Amino acid sequence: MYNRRQFIKASSLSASLAALSASAFAKAALKAEPANHPIVISTWDFGVAANQEAWKILAKGGRSLDAVEAGARIPEADLKNHSVGRAGYPDRDGHVTLDACIMDEQGNCGAVAGMEDIAHPISVARLVMEKTPHVLLVGDGARQFAIEQGFKPEKLLTPESEKAWKKWLVKHEYKPVMNSENQMPGGKFNHDTIGMLAIDARGNLSGACTTSGMAFKLHGRVGDSPIIGAGLYVDNEVGGATSTGVGEEVIRNVGSFLVVELMRQGYSPQDACKEACHRIIKRKPDTVKEIQVGFLAINKKGEYGAYALHKGFTFAVCDSKKQDLIIPGQYFYETVKD
Ligand code: GLY
Repeated sequence: MYNRRQFIKASSLSASLAALSASAFAKAALKAEPANHPIVISTWDFGVAANQEAWKILAKGGRSLDAVEAGARIPEADLKNHSVGRAGYPDRDGHVTLDACIMDEQGNCGAVAGMEDIAHPISVARLVMEKTPHVLLVGDGARQFAIEQGFKPEKLLTPESEKAWKKWLVKHEYKPVMNSENQMPGGKFNHDTIGMLAIDARGNLSGACTTSGMAFKLHGRVGDSPIIGAGLYVDNEVGGATSTGVGEEVIRNVGSFLVVELMRQGYSPQDACKEACHRIIKRKPDTVKEIQVGFLAINKKGEYGAYALHKGFTFAVCDSKKQDLIIPGQYFYETVKD
């Protein structure tokens, strides 16, 4: 039992501890940067236009999920973009097959893979999330679901993409070799996936990722972009990550999930992306010299960062200060291949 003197000592100790922790909290609160949101970031320089579309929603206090869907639809519709959406380069058999996924602040997610004839896979992915108990629909099933939901099937192979494919066919036989990676994503001719991450005015995080995949891939090949945890991962308590480049290496390392988990452990977004690249390098030190992978991440405070295997990866940032910022990603290797 406490005697009076012990009680007074204990009370004054807890009073001073309370005062100390109150002042520590106050200092921490003074030091803490205000969270930077709304904000939206995207892979590559074509992310600027996507971000600006997303910003129309974010600036009005709209939901990050709506913002990333609207943003991702911009490169999907862009006839000059041959790595995302309707003008994407086809697979080796001439089929344009699209992959996409989306994830919201509650951990809900939806995806489509290898879907043909539907120009906006990101919107179909959202409907998979919202209207079905499933996460991923593939191929004919995804197409059928999209048509049931009111999407119009249309021919996606543009004359320009067809021309590029026919030119590719002249030199490349139908062999399942890594030859399409010679046009390294990140190189001049293959700018690859768009991955988007947004935090809205309420502080809620969502992400979207959409691509036509590797140019002239084997029919049926699916990369990282529609795979939750590989091409995209969002955890509203921690942050989000997305990837671009050769999806096989991202899938092997569950890249975006890894980046988010590293941020949970205290890594900055850039350091988390760097470590995820490093894991890929450790597994395949020779292969990585020939392929590009890039990660982009944002944490709950709105701090962002990126890292890639090779020079050439860029990302776009849009917030209340600036809506068209393009930042070169940090990288391990100087090589840039066309
Ligand atoms: N990152 C896109 C793909 O590998 O398909």
